[in-house]
Amino acid sequence: MAINHYEWSWGGPLPELLRHSEVKHALLRDYLVEYFLTLVSSPHQDRIQLTVVDGFCGGGRYRNGAGAAVPGSPIVILEALKEAKARVLHEQQRRKPIEFDVKLVCIDADASAVNHLRHVLEDHGYGDQLRSGAIETLVGEFAGKAEAVIAEAHRRSPKAGRAIFVLDQYGYDKVPLSVMKQIFGVLKRAEAILTFNVDSLINFLSDKNVRDFERKTGVMGAITAADMDKALRGPAWRLRVQAGLYQKITQGSGAGYFTPFFVRPERGHGDFWLLHLSQHWKARDVMADAHWKHHNHFVHYGRAGFDMLSTGYAARIDDDARPQAAFEFDDVASTASQDEMLMQIPQVLAQHRAGIPFKQFFVERVNTTPATEAMVERAVLQLVRDRQVLVIGPDGSQRNVRTALKPDHVIKLPDQRAFSF
Ligand SMILES: C[S@@+](CC[C@H](N)C(=O)[O-])C[C@H]1O[C@@H](n2cnc3c(N)ncnc32)[C@H](O)[C@@H]1O
Repeated sequence: MAINHYEWSWGGPLPELLRHSEVKHALLRDYLVEYFLTLVSSPHQDRIQLTVVDGFCGGGRYRNGAGAAVPGSPIVILEALKEAKARVLHEQQRRKPIEFDVKLVCIDADASAVNHLRHVLEDHGYGDQLRSGAIETLVGEFAGKAEAVIAEAHRRSPKAGRAIFVLDQYGYDKVPLSVMKQIFGVLKRAEAILTFNVDSLINFLSDKNVRDFERKTGVMGAITAADMDKALRGPAWRLRVQAGLYQKITQGSGAGYFTPFFVRPERGHGDFWLLHLSQHWKARDVMADAHWKHHNHFVHYGRAGFDMLSTGYAARIDDDARPQAAFEFDDVASTASQDEMLMQIPQVLAQHRAGIPFKQFFVERVNTTPATEAMVERAVLQLVRDRQVLVIGPDGSQRNVRTALKPDHVIKLPDQRAFSF
């Protein structure tokens, strides 16, 4: 069962931040810096306006394994914003200053955690922003506060609909699917980073737990009576349940793009998902990049190339009782991805004899591959050099592309027979 192990009281001992959560924070920070930078990529822009919602914000400070005080997610978010501002000024050599109008809303069900966070924010020099409302703290359950917060994010960014929801629940049942749908229905460019402790659900499957989970989240039908019965479970039941849950959550959320990555924590703690849901393939690509950077702690199940869910997810089973062999984001995985794609790309192109624009090729596969756009491009270019794939420009002529594909470059297999008249 998921129990909340975090307790904050101002002046009391700090809760311990486990190593995998430190890595989660590093990933969040890197991702947000890149996200803010992509928003201000045009030097003519003078303002960005968006809302960041930390839906399970905690008390803002921990101690790590070495005893040092380390920041919690609200401070990580604010530091990412600070870093992005500094980098914009430095890297873009701007003449016009840029205003980052970013509101941070921090929600926690525990009043003592919120009180602690407010002290920590003062300590870090954010007192003025607390008083001006640029940082808002709310005590209550995320699901209960969500509607008002989504409306506020929409009021602040009505056209672009930009907002990021960091939903770091401890457990698996505090973020109803209806709230996810509302986020992606109301906010055109919303993104969510959702923690889902999949093993704490699966390790304690019972009729009551499953009914509670379904009632609270609206994620229905991913777990069957046979999955709950040890005598009836077929082989690979765990993987089947995980795949079912993953598909119900991502498809039911209303988001178009997701990263299907898992975090494998220290021994004794089950795997959990860190799902990134967004409305744009580019956002998913930036997140996939961040995972490759923090490869030591992130895994995804399945094969290295494309179609990891349909062909890979349930294919790499060694033993139901043990965690399955996982794909790790390291150099070996990168090579495996490349090798796999070199085989798979011609197979896919065989289904598209007239060819397919590179961008379409990538976007259609983005949800089921751990590879980034740059990695897929590298594989295609290797095949072009090996004369296994041709590149055709928008005017229909063959292009001699060596280093960079354009989104509208059509990639295709060479014709099997060349006719000459
Ligand atoms: C894993 S901790 C979050 C840590 C924080 N995101 C960080 O990284 O520093 C989970 C927090 O969620 C809070 N919480 C539990 N149930 C909640 C709910 N339904 N709505 C909002 N907060 C909740 C707990 O009080 C706890 O502080």
